Amino acid sequence: MIGLVLLAGGKGRRMGLSKPKQFLDLGGKPLFEHSLDLFLQCERIGEIVVVCEQSYRFSSDAVRFADPGSTRLESAKAGVAALCDQCEWVVLHDAARPFVSPDELDQVIDAMQAHGAATVATPVRYSVKEVSADGFVCSTIDRAVVWEVQTPQAMRREWLLEGFAKGWEVTDEATLIERLGYPVKVVTGASRNLKVTTLEDLLLARQMAQQ
Ligand code: CTP
Ligand code: MG
Repeated sequence: MIGLVLLAGGKGRRMGLSKPKQFLDLGGKPLFEHSLDLFLQCERIGEIVVVCEQSYRFSSDAVRFADPGSTRLESAKAGVAALCDQCEWVVLHDAARPFVSPDELDQVIDAMQAHGAATVATPVRYSVKEVSADGFVCSTIDRAVVWEVQTPQAMRREWLLEGFAKGWEVTDEATLIERLGYPVKVVTGASRNLKVTTLEDLLLARQMAQQ
């Protein structure tokens, strides 16, 4: 069975508003509900856990809740721990990414089941350079090999638990799998699957939601 963990336990400090960004309005409903509605409609997902503070919980038969941790990784651990034992596959998604598509979700699940782990990522569209600590260009990195990693990220639960147990400080779960030496298949996502981080992102997302 596939379990989905929706990470909605952050405080949105870079946004700088009192309410965390995932609960702000986006086109008539809270930002997190855009991706949650997609997951609720996906028949391949057997269970959904939303990681969020008590005060933001809602009553639902289709969703269970877990308490957030102080970091994204701690929230992910709490969400995975709340999944039932039958979930041998885990998909994690940032609630702050409202525009994940059904196709991206399907593809990342297919790739996870074929290779053990997968992430959605998008090729970088800019020139990328290595810069020294004192602010000089060292080299130009071949753009063709640089990808911006997004979510959903999906993997065998066993691998994820093995990664959590290492105590590594990482910012996404695919890094755990990579460090363990297991394969992480990359699924090409769209730049539309942006993470709302700043106020500018929120304004852009609100424009996109109207289209
Ligand atoms: N997240 C979480 N628990 C945390 C931190 C983050 O569940 N302790 C979630 C966020 O809610 C978000 C996703 O992880 O959906 C990506 O994190 P990020 O964009 O960094 O969100 P915040 O941590 O809320 O924002 P900031 O870093 O600006 O405070
Ligand atoms: Mg954060």
